[in-house]
Amino acid sequence: MKVKGFATRAIHDAEKPLQDTGEYGDVVVPIHLTTTFARKEPETATKGMDYSRTGNPTRAALEKKLASLEQARHGLAFASGLAAEAAVIMALLKSGDTVIAGEDLYGGTRRLLVNFGARFGIKVIFADLSNHENIQQLITKETKMIWCETPSNPFLKITPLREVSKIASEHGILTVADNTFASPFFQNPIRLGCDVVMHSTTKYIGGHSDTIGGAVVTDSDELFQSVKFFQNAAGGIMSPFDSYLTLRGAKTLSARMVIHERNAKSIANYLASSGKAKEVFYPGLESHPLHAVAARQMSGFGGMVSVRLNTDLNGVRRFLSNLELFSLAESLGGVESLIEVPSMMTHLSVPLEERKRLGIDESLIRISAGIEDERDLLDDLSKALEHV
Ligand SMILES: Cc1ncc(COP(=O)(O)O)c(C=O)c1O
Repeated sequence: MKVKGFATRAIHDAEKPLQDTGEYGDVVVPIHLTTTFARKEPETATKGMDYSRTGNPTRAALEKKLASLEQARHGLAFASGLAAEAAVIMALLKSGDTVIAGEDLYGGTRRLLVNFGARFGIKVIFADLSNHENIQQLITKETKMIWCETPSNPFLKITPLREVSKIASEHGILTVADNTFASPFFQNPIRLGCDVVMHSTTKYIGGHSDTIGGAVVTDSDELFQSVKFFQNAAGGIMSPFDSYLTLRGAKTLSARMVIHERNAKSIANYLASSGKAKEVFYPGLESHPLHAVAARQMSGFGGMVSVRLNTDLNGVRRFLSNLELFSLAESLGGVESLIEVPSMMTHLSVPLEERKRLGIDESLIRISAGIEDERDLLDDLSKALEHV
């Protein structure tokens, strides 16, 4: 059967089957707040639902929708992106295993892998995954997982997913891709050979900065069963209300991503020509070292831009305090533009020495381009840059 387009799937998939279950033919999936489900016989759960930690119709609709957005078979929704990551790590790894992870990674992911992975005997090696040939040399018989974040956080580095997942599968190693920055609209890692995709749905999929959540998506029945077993056993599920908000956000993902990208491109081009930036990091710029790889594996370059300003911390503070439309806040992917200083905010948990080595210093700023009018965003940046 012909696969429908992204926007059609985002709006219609996982909505109609539930409509049949509603008495009134709702066109929107209802919020099933119930914790438990009455049954007719002790051994038969009603439509497969017995208790809302194990399964809930609103969450089930979202899980189906998430799978559809990634063109994969299975989806699971968690209380946060980090809860989704914890489930992948705990369900698929064991003591003695090694993970090769991208060195440019969301600080919370690094904290989870290093602090808690180590406690459970899981070793983590950080590497620059943009060069897939590096990986070959790092693989040992203990290597069980490669963890990629692409585009990465905060330098928007690109991991060549097809090449990395090919090397991994030749060695029987799982490839996990954090697809939060690209969103499923611009990139589908499962279709590029990855085994597992995770998202912080808090970001683009939710899209309105009003719900925290996470997702795990896979094509493999076996991996799905393992992560689902952990989801029920540990209980880090997304609530019915958050599932509803995330379903609602997902319906407009395609429309929003087009504007996020348009604004991010303009911001990156503007900053690059402003004379105030030492470096601009955006995979859509032809000057980006992995622009060609991004163009090959993504259908767009996303809404995130990082910039190293040509100033000191005081200059950065003056710039930030003169912005009107960009809120100084962690997170990304909402309709409103946000700005942050990774060294003092999202990546504060990365040890100082490591931050220095990676170049995450006080002049580095990360921007999440919202969907406001492009002209207003550029005017705001230009006005604030006068104070640098
Ligand atoms: C790329 C990436 N992955 C994972 C996470 C964690 O998601 P959450 O905050 O929903 O737990 C974040 C949060 O900022 C992120 O940026």
